[in-house]
Order: sequence, then structure tokens, then C-alpha cells
Amino acid sequence: MAEITYRRPEVSDAKNIVDFYNYVGGETSYLSFEKDEYPLDAAAQEAAIRELEGNDTNIMLLAMDGEEIAGIATISSTHKIKARHDGELGIVVAKKYQGQGIGTTLIKKLIDWARGNGVTTRISLDTRADNIMAVSLYLKMGFQVEGCRKNSTLLNGEYYDLYIMGMML
Ligand SMILES: CC(C)(COP(=O)(O)OP(=O)(O)OC[C@H]1O[C@@H](n2cnc3c(N)ncnc32)[C@H](O)[C@@H]1OP(=O)(O)O)[C@@H](O)C(=O)NCCC(=O)NCCS
Repeated sequence: MAEITYRRPEVSDAKNIVDFYNYVGGETSYLSFEKDEYPLDAAAQEAAIRELEGNDTNIMLLAMDGEEIAGIATISSTHKIKARHDGELGIVVAKKYQGQGIGTTLIKKLIDWARGNGVTTRISLDTRADNIMAVSLYLKMGFQVEGCRKNSTLLNGEYYDLYIMGMML
């Protein structure tokens, strides 16, 4: 099993991050974007990484196998006063690294960071209800299913439900 290290991104990681998201978008249908549909290019990703520096309520965490990105998890929050306590979690682990505990470690680290940032008191996420691996991971970490958006994903002519999940810290 690969030795994985966890760290925040640097500006020089921007292209790798964009390539990673565009690649994993094609590996799984569970992400909101498909292959090559990741909305940022390398320049926009660099700017996004700069914005994270010193940001109390937004974070990106990379799981690295040497120079290769194995997984990425993020918490994104609005700056709006009434909603900034509620961070939205996003996570993806590349297929060849799944089932090794990387997703669990990424979420643990994000929860610890959120508990310590002085603002975030809740974490939210959406996931396809049939994404068994993700739903089990989130339940294991303490998230609850708070609601369901029926038929909110349409893929190859089939509708899928989305669970709204959340946890108070
Ligand atoms: C969901 C995802 C992030 C999990 O990452 P991972 O590194 O594979 O997760 P872990 O190895 O830490 O496993 C986490 C939990 O998933 C569950 N799990 C793992 N393999 C499973 C399987 N084959 N069937 C059911 N549940 C499984 C278990 O609850 C496991 O915890 P446990 O090992 O303590 O029992 C990863 O599968 C992924 O990126 N999937 C594609 C993208 C995606 O769905 N992202 C989430 C969108 S909301």
C-alpha cells in the first residue's frame, strides 16, 4: 500500500489539481462534473489556491502519493454572515487509491480543521443516494441524512436521488 501524506496545496500544484479533477470526473459518475468538465483551468486554480491562503473557512487538502495526487477534499463556505458557519464538503479519491482509508483520513482532518477555525459549526454535503461507499463513509464519520432531492440527477436517461447530509460539530 502506498505511503500517503496530507498537505495544503501550493500554487505550483494548480495544473496537477486541474488534471486530477478532469481525470477522476471520467472515472466515476458520482461527481457533479464529467471528464474534462472541471470548471477551472490552471490559471483560475492558481488564483483559487492563493485565495485559500489565510482563509479561515475554506480549505483544500491533498492526499499525496509522492508527487501524485491520490485524493482531494475541500470545505467551501460563503463569506455571508448568516451562512458562513456552514461549510460544504467535497471529496474524491482516485479509483486505484480507494478502499485504503484515504477518504476517512481526509474527512477526519477536515473535521479537526473546521472544529479549530473558530467559525465553522456545521458541515453539509450532497451525495447520490446510490453512492453506497460515500454514504457509508459519511454515516461512519457522523453525518446524518437530512433530506432527499428526488430525481435531481439525470444521467443517460435515468433519474437518481440526491441525499442532503449534514453534521453539527
Ligand atoms: C467516496 C470516496 C471518497 C471514499 O474514499 P476511500 O478512500 O475509498 O474511503 P475509505 O477507504 O476511507 O473507506 C471509507 C468507508 O467507505 C465504506 N466502504 C469502503 N469500501 C466499501 C465497499 N466496497 N462497499 C461499501 N462501503 C465501502 C466503508 O464504510 C469504509 O469505512 P471502513 O473501511 O472503516 O468500513 C471514494 O470512493 C470516491 O472518491 N468515490 C468517487 C467520487 C465520489 O463518490 N465522491 C463523493 C461524492 S459525494
